[in-house]
Amino acid sequence: MRHKHASPIISECSPADSMSAATEQGLRHGPHRQLSYHATSGSLSRERGQCRFMEAKRRCRRLRGIDVRDPTGLSARDVWVVVKGIAIRFFQLHVINGLRYPRSELSDKDPYELLSNSLMSSPEDSKVENAAMAVTYDFSNQTAVVTGGARGIGRAIAEQLATSGAEVWIWDIDPVELAGTHSVVVDVTKRNDISRALALMKGKSIDILVNDAGYLGPYRPFEQFDPDEWQRILQVNLLGMLEVTYQVLPVMRRIGKGRIVNLGSLAGKEGLPRLAAYSAASAGVIAFTKALSREVNDSDIRVNCIAPGPIDTRMIRDLGNETVDAMITASPLRRLGDPKEVAALVVWLCSDASAFNTGAVFDMSGGRARY
Ligand SMILES: NC(=O)c1ccc[n+]([C@@H]2O[C@H](COP(=O)([O-])OP(=O)(O)OC[C@H]3O[C@@H](n4cnc5c(N)ncnc54)[C@H](O)[C@@H]3O)[C@@H](O)[C@H]2O)c1
Repeated sequence: MRHKHASPIISECSPADSMSAATEQGLRHGPHRQLSYHATSGSLSRERGQCRFMEAKRRCRRLRGIDVRDPTGLSARDVWVVVKGIAIRFFQLHVINGLRYPRSELSDKDPYELLSNSLMSSPEDSKVENAAMAVTYDFSNQTAVVTGGARGIGRAIAEQLATSGAEVWIWDIDPVELAGTHSVVVDVTKRNDISRALALMKGKSIDILVNDAGYLGPYRPFEQFDPDEWQRILQVNLLGMLEVTYQVLPVMRRIGKGRIVNLGSLAGKEGLPRLAAYSAASAGVIAFTKALSREVNDSDIRVNCIAPGPIDTRMIRDLGNETVDAMITASPLRRLGDPKEVAALVVWLCSDASAFNTGAVFDMSGGRARY
């Protein structure tokens, strides 16, 4: 499997400069619209502008600690770097950012403040835009099965895997038309549905299995549950995942390698009120992931789990605005996650880049998870 940190931006800069600037940016701000590492949608000139700005930013950072308001402490080289940094920053503000800030705002700014602001913060920092494809992968010649891929997180995962070259089979109770994927109607709680879906693949190897199919059930105290409801929750989220894995694992064993990613939940780690059965099922997914990973570590099969907090899908929107607002308020990042953000983590877990991870549980909760 080839994992590419491919980026048109990098090809415009010297590799060392680009990588260090990209790494610095990634550590400081995370996904960033202007500085996205992958610019499929960007024009060449925009990429060049981004590249120059990244280099300027890297150089300007060296100025931190120099008080530009005290000229006596500056060498001629410092002055040159400051002037050049400010000039490039103005260019970035007015040309690349499309006049994001009015000139009047810039005129009364202290140069040091201007530089610090440019290095430390940006109103665009929290944007998710372009984040999903910030890194690209090559899964060509690989086959993936994604359960629950008809909508929500599963669909975003199926899309990203297909875009990265994998042959994707979506197993869902609902059929779906999604470019580059095969759709098979499967209820993961039904053993025969899974066998039938496997038979349709005609003995193909399966390199990637994403157990995403899920059912939240009603949002209410456990005492008010109908037993059929909590049984369904356990069947879909936990037993269905076991059933699919049980039938797919021998196929992976045959080739001695594979990636399994299970969708758990923050609820499984913390135990969320009004979601008792769902929390229990999710805790089961986490424990199963850890146990199975240790059973297959004599092969190149990796088993990991993702435990998202609230992600913007129908599962969460169906709870109603009041509940969604309460979830957003409880989140340190004050927003729902985007399905593409979860998908980006899944494709990374399926790549060679994460070959040393197995039996791990990855949070994606906007800072809400406490351990
Ligand atoms: N959205 C969130 O906030 C969130 C948070 C934590 C974990 N998760 C987990 O992520 C996964 C995806 O959630 P989502 O938000 O995209 O949900 P969703 O309700 O939008 O999508 C779930 C998908 O699973 C399919 N499905 C349901 N029952 C099935 C069954 N028996 N067999 C096959 N397919 C079935 C549905 O048809 C649907 O396509 C679930 O496992 C969920 O528990 C979601």
